[in-house]
Amino acid sequence: MSTATIASAIHREPELLGQTVVVIGGSSGIGLETARQARAEGAKVILAARDPERLKHAATEIDALSTAAFDATDPVALERFFGDLPVIDHVMVTAGRPYYGRLVEMDLAKIRDVIGQHLVQALYVARNAMNKVRPGGTLIFMGGTGGRRPAIGMSIAGAVTAALPALIANLALEIAPVRVNLIAAGFVDTPLSAELLGDQLEKRRNQLRTTLPIGRVVGPTDVAELAVHIMTNTALTGGTYDIDGGQQLVAA
Ligand SMILES: NC(=O)c1ccc[n+]([C@@H]2O[C@H](COP(=O)([O-])OP(=O)(O)OC[C@H]3O[C@@H](n4cnc5c(N)ncnc54)[C@H](OP(=O)(O)O)[C@@H]3O)[C@@H](O)[C@H]2O)c1
Repeated sequence: MSTATIASAIHREPELLGQTVVVIGGSSGIGLETARQARAEGAKVILAARDPERLKHAATEIDALSTAAFDATDPVALERFFGDLPVIDHVMVTAGRPYYGRLVEMDLAKIRDVIGQHLVQALYVARNAMNKVRPGGTLIFMGGTGGRRPAIGMSIAGAVTAALPALIANLALEIAPVRVNLIAAGFVDTPLSAELLGDQLEKRRNQLRTTLPIGRVVGPTDVAELAVHIMTNTALTGGTYDIDGGQQLVAA
C-alpha cells in the first residue's frame, strides 16, 4: 500500500509514517494483528518468530520489511537479532505463552525456566533494545489480568502476572528516554486460545459473550489498537494497560 493510498483511506496522516516496528511473535495472533495495524499506519515492520514458514506467510501478507526466525528464549539468538537491526522505533514482544499447572503436576526440573521465562525475556529484550530504539520509542510486553485472582493451577501464572508490572515500571526508569509498557489482556480470541481450549473454544466464547460487561469477546484487533496507541502516545511509560472487556470485574 502506498503512503498516498493509506492517507486517503484513513483521511489523516498515518501515525507511524517513517517509523520501524519490530514484532517478536509477529506471525500469529496479537503480534500479527499489531504488525498489520502498524503497517496500515505507515510503519515499516520487522517480524520475528520461530516457525519460518508461518513467518514467511505473515510477512508476505503484510508486506514486512524483513523477518528473522529464532527462539526468543535463546539469549544468544536475541542478541544476534538486535545486533543486526538498524535503529528502530518500537518493539512489541508477544512471543510466549502462559504456564498453568497444579503444584503436584509441575515438572520440578523445568520450574526455574518456566517462572523465569517471561521476566528474563523482558530483561534480555530491554538490554538488547535500549541502544537500538530511538528516544521516545517504546518496548511493549504482554501480561494478563487472569492471573490476578488466585486459583488452583495458577501459582506460576499468578506470580509472573504480579511481577511483570513492577519489572516494566523499573525498566522504564532504567532505559529512559526509551519508553517501556505492559499490556495486560484477559481472554483474547487468537490461535493460542484456540489451541489451549481445543473443543471448548466455542463454549468459552459464548460464556464470555454472556458474562463480560462489553457483551462480546476481545479479539487481537482490540489489543493491536491499544499497542499502536502506546507506540504513538509518547506520554505513556512504565504503565500496565488492562484490556479484558471487564473480565476481571466479573471473574469470568
Ligand atoms: N490470547 C490470550 O488470551 C492472551 C491473554 C493474555 C496474554 N496473552 C499473551 O500474549 C502473547 C501473544 O499471545 P497470542 O494469543 O497472540 O499467541 P499466538 O497466536 O500463539 O502468537 C504467538 C506468536 O509468538 C511466536 N512465538 C511463540 N513463542 C516464541 C518463541 N519462544 N520465540 C519466538 N517467537 C515465539 C509464535 O510463532 P512461533 O510459534 O512460530 O514461534 C507466534 O507468532 C503471549 O505471550 C500470551 O501469553 C495472550
